[in-house]
Amino acid sequence: MSSSLSRFSTLLLFLHVALLIAPPTTQFFFLPLAKGSDLIQTTCKKTPHYNLCLSTLQSNPDSSNADVPGLALIASDALLANASDTLDYIHGLLKQSPEVHLQKALANCAELYIPIVKFSLPQAIEALRNGHFGFAKYGISDAAKEAEACEKGFGGVKSPLTDRNALVNDLSGVAVAILNLLKG
Ligand SMILES: *[C@@H]1O[C@H](CO)[C@@H](O)[C@H](O)[C@H]1NC(C)=O
Repeated sequence: MSSSLSRFSTLLLFLHVALLIAPPTTQFFFLPLAKGSDLIQTTCKKTPHYNLCLSTLQSNPDSSNADVPGLALIASDALLANASDTLDYIHGLLKQSPEVHLQKALANCAELYIPIVKFSLPQAIEALRNGHFGFAKYGISDAAKEAEACEKGFGGVKSPLTDRNALVNDLSGVAVAILNLLKG
């Protein structure tokens, strides 16, 4: 009895040490290996925007077979698609020669969105694919900061980008929250 108990506690100790010394990127293998809609729902519940998270992940058929890093990738791809679409929209508005205050604010937004569309987000997505979740978080949370700065730049002028900036901000929040479930 006492020897099986001590064998049991040795096993617990071993598991504990194994978890402590496991390389960070392998730790998610210890998470429940659930997939599909259960995993999507439990994951989205841990984000600040449940409905947006759900609709974003479910709109991509890959999500039904994805693990948590896969869901983070789907959310990040949706974020890049939205940021890129917003940048195109800004360029379209600039071509309509808006009045000077609006033009300045839009040009400021283009300057903020270009680096996230061309560099931060693609780099973050590449890092995510390689299991560097901590690094990925920088680029993805940067998107929210730039969207916020863009929106603030309108000052007294009515922003034509409010909904788009809010969506980029919220999608960034969803992707970061999913990344927070992972180590590395
Ligand atoms: C932006 O994200 C929303 C929510 O996930 C999605 O419905 C929409 O299709 C995305 N827009 C683009 C251009 O990808």
